Amino acid sequence: MLSGMEMYASVFFFVTVCGVCSAHGESSDRSFSIDYKNSCFLKDGHPFQYISGSIHYSRIPRFYWKDRLLKMYMTGLNTIQIYVPWNFHETVEGVHNFTGDRDLEHFLDLANQTGLLVILRPGPYICAEWEMGGLPAWLLQKNIILRSSDTDYLLAVTNWFAVLLPKMKRWLYVNGGNIISVQVENEYGSYFACDYNYMRHLRALLQGHLGKDTVLFTTDGNTDKEMTCGTLDGLYATVDFGTGDNITEAFNRQRKFEPQGPLVNSEYYTGWLDHWGDEHAMVDTKRVSRGLAEMLSMGANVNMYMFEGGTNFGYWNGADHDNRFRPVVTSYDYDAPLSEAGDPTEKLIAIREVIKMFKAIPFGPMPPATPKFAYGLAMLKKVGNISSLLDILSVGPVQSKYPLTFEKLNQFYGYMLYQTTLPHDLAEPTPLISPLNGVHDRAYVSVNGVFQGVLERDTVLAINVTGRQGDIVDILVENMGRVNFGSHINDYKGLVGNLILGQDVLTNWKMYPLDIDGVVTAGWPHIFNLHDRTNEPSIGPALYMGTLQPSGVAWDTFLKLNDWTKGQVWINGVNLGRYWPARGPQQTLYVPGPLLSTTLPNNITVLELEGAPAHLRVLFMDRPLLKAAIHNL
Ligand SMILES: *[C@@H]1O[C@H](CO)[C@@H](O)[C@H](O)[C@H]1NC(C)=O
Ligand SMILES: *[C@@H]1O[C@H](CO)[C@@H](O)[C@H](O)[C@H]1NC(C)=O
Ligand SMILES: *[C@@H]1O[C@H](CO)[C@@H](O)[C@H](O)[C@H]1NC(C)=O
Ligand SMILES: *[C@@H]1O[C@H](CO)[C@@H](O)[C@H](O)[C@H]1NC(C)=O
Ligand SMILES: *[C@@H]1O[C@H](CO)[C@@H](O)[C@H](O)[C@H]1NC(C)=O
Ligand SMILES: *[C@@H]1O[C@H](CO)[C@@H](O)[C@H](O)[C@H]1NC(C)=O
Repeated sequence: MLSGMEMYASVFFFVTVCGVCSAHGESSDRSFSIDYKNSCFLKDGHPFQYISGSIHYSRIPRFYWKDRLLKMYMTGLNTIQIYVPWNFHETVEGVHNFTGDRDLEHFLDLANQTGLLVILRPGPYICAEWEMGGLPAWLLQKNIILRSSDTDYLLAVTNWFAVLLPKMKRWLYVNGGNIISVQVENEYGSYFACDYNYMRHLRALLQGHLGKDTVLFTTDGNTDKEMTCGTLDGLYATVDFGTGDNITEAFNRQRKFEPQGPLVNSEYYTGWLDHWGDEHAMVDTKRVSRGLAEMLSMGANVNMYMFEGGTNFGYWNGADHDNRFRPVVTSYDYDAPLSEAGDPTEKLIAIREVIKMFKAIPFGPMPPATPKFAYGLAMLKKVGNISSLLDILSVGPVQSKYPLTFEKLNQFYGYMLYQTTLPHDLAEPTPLISPLNGVHDRAYVSVNGVFQGVLERDTVLAINVTGRQGDIVDILVENMGRVNFGSHINDYKGLVGNLILGQDVLTNWKMYPLDIDGVVTAGWPHIFNLHDRTNEPSIGPALYMGTLQPSGVAWDTFLKLNDWTKGQVWINGVNLGRYWPARGPQQTLYVPGPLLSTTLPNNITVLELEGAPAHLRVLFMDRPLLKAAIHNL
C-alpha cells in the first residue's frame, strides 16, 4: 500500500505546475498582472504561482515578526497574505498609529528582506475574528450602515484610505516593493447589504491611490449568492474554502465568475478558531496536505489561512453572532502550521513535504522552536475591589437617568462600572432582568458590596438580588469583543437597554468609564508596596497584584490561572488578554518572553471578575493548554 505522500507523488508529480499557463509574455522590468489568455498570474512577464500563508502582524509582538517570516519562507512559501486592521491603527478617530507593534511598513520591510511577496488585504472590513472585523468602534457614534454606501461610512473610509494607501504605494511590486495584489473588502458577498455602489467606491479609491494597473481582487465564500454580491467588474474574483469542500466544484464556481484567469483559493483553512465554551477546533494534517497537493497540481494559487495565527492580546478578539453571541478566545493558535508561540508543528513539516513536490524549497534548516521556560508559581495579593478603586481607575462618573453605552461615553473597549441605588426594600429575592437582552456582554452585579451574580448576553437574562432601599448597586459591564461577521456588526456595548428590578425600571445611573490599561501601563499598582495588600480573595470584580522574580532568562512562557474564574491579565503593563478557565477550552495565556525582565521583578496585575481562589497563586508553565474540557452554563 502506498503511503499518503507517495500517493500524491504518483498522482500529481508529472502534472506541470501552472500547466495550462506555459506561454511566456514579454519580459519586462518589474510587473505583476493577470494573464487571462493562459489563466495564470504573470510576474515580470513569466507565469507565476503563489504558495502563500496568512500571518497577522497585529497578533504577534514585533520582536518575533522576523522569526515567524523566516519560518514561513523556509517552509517553501513565496508569498504571505496580511490584513490591515483599521481599528488597530486608528483607535481614536483621526489619531493614527504606525509605530512599534503597529509598524506595518517595518513588517513589509522584514517580509521583503526575507524574500516573501505580499498579498495585502486592507479591508476596510477584514473579519479575521478581530474586534468588529477591524472597523473602529467610533464609527458607531454615528447612526451608520456599515459596509455600505452610507455617506458617513464612505467619508470615514475615504479618510482612512487617504492615510493608509499612500504609505503602501512604494511597497507595490512594480514600485520596487513586495505587494503583488490587493484585496477589496472581505467576503462582501456574505454581508446582507449587497451594495455595488460601495464596492465601486472602494475600487475607485484603490485605483486612485495605487494606480489602475494594480491587481485588485475579491474573496468570497463558495456559493453563487456570495459570489454574486461580492464580485465587481475589474476586481478579479477568487474563492475561499477548506478541507471539507470538493476542490473541483469550488474552482468550477470561481470559473463561473472568472471563465479565464488563474485559479485562486484565498483562504484554504489549515485549522479553525475557538469560541469560549466550544470544543477546541482542529483540522487533520493529512487532509490539509492532501488538499494542498491537489490544488497545487492543478496550477492553482493557494493562500493557507492561517499559517501563523498568534494571539488576541488585550481586547482585540472578535465574536460571532449566529443564533447567539459567541466571543472568540484569546489564543488565535488556529491549529495552524506554526503554533501560537511560532513553533513549527507536524502540520508545517507535512506542508513542506507537499511544497517540495512542486518547487525547490530554500536550502538550510528550519529555525527551531523558541525556548520556553516554566518559571513556576507566583503569589498574588488583593489590591481592592473595583468599586473601591474608582478614584484611581476613572476620571469620574457621568450621570444619566437611563444607562448610556460605552460608545456614547467614548470608551470603546474593556470595562465600565454602572452604579445606582435600590429604589425600595427587597424582602424576598427579586429578579433583576435584562428584558431586551441589553447586557453587552456580561454584567457583574453587587449590592452594597455583596456579589449577586452575573447577567450574560443571550444566556442569563435574570438573576435574583436582595437588599434594602438606598443600597448601592454596582454593575461592572464587560465588553467581550464586538461581532466581526454577519448582520450584527453594529454591536454597541455596555447596558444598551434598561434593567428592570421586580416591577421597576432602574434609573439615575452613574457611569464610571474605567481606564485600567492607562494606569497599569503607567506603573500602578506596583509603584505602591505589595506588603500593604491583603491575602483575602474577593467574590466579585477585584484587582490583584504580584511579582514574578527575575530568573536571568526572558523566554516564552504560558500563564495558567488555576481555579481562577474569569478576567484579564497584565504583565509589566502589557495586556495579555482574557482568561476564562471556568468556561474553557483555553486554559493558558501566551506570555512572549521579550515582555519579561531578566533583572527586575516582573509585575503581574489580574482583574478577576467573579471569584479568586483562596491560594491566590498563578503558574507559569513551559507549554500551552488550549483544549481542556469546556463547561457551559
Ligand atoms: C502606538 O502603538 C505602539 C505599539 O503598540 C505603542 O507602544 C504606542 O504607545 C502607541 N502610540 C501612541 C501615541 O498611542
Ligand atoms: C525589497 O527587496 C529587494 C530585494 O532585496 C530590494 O531590491 C528592494 O529595494 C526592497 N524594496 C524595498 C521597498 O525596500
Ligand atoms: C468532486 O466533485 C466532482 C464533480 O462534481 C466529482 O466528480 C468528484 O468525484 C468529487 N470529488 C470528491 C473527492 O468527492
Ligand atoms: C469594596 O470594598 C469596600 C471596602 O474596601 C467595601 O466597603 C465595598 O462594599 C466593596 N464594594 C464592592 C462592590 O465589592
Ligand atoms: C428567584 O427567586 C424565586 C423565589 O425564591 C425563584 O422562584 C426563582 O426561580 C429565582 N429566579 C432566579 C432567576 O434565580
Ligand atoms: C514594575 O513596576 C515598578 C513600579 O511601577 C516599576 O518601577 C518597574 O520597572 C516594573 N517592572 C518591570 C519589569 O517593568
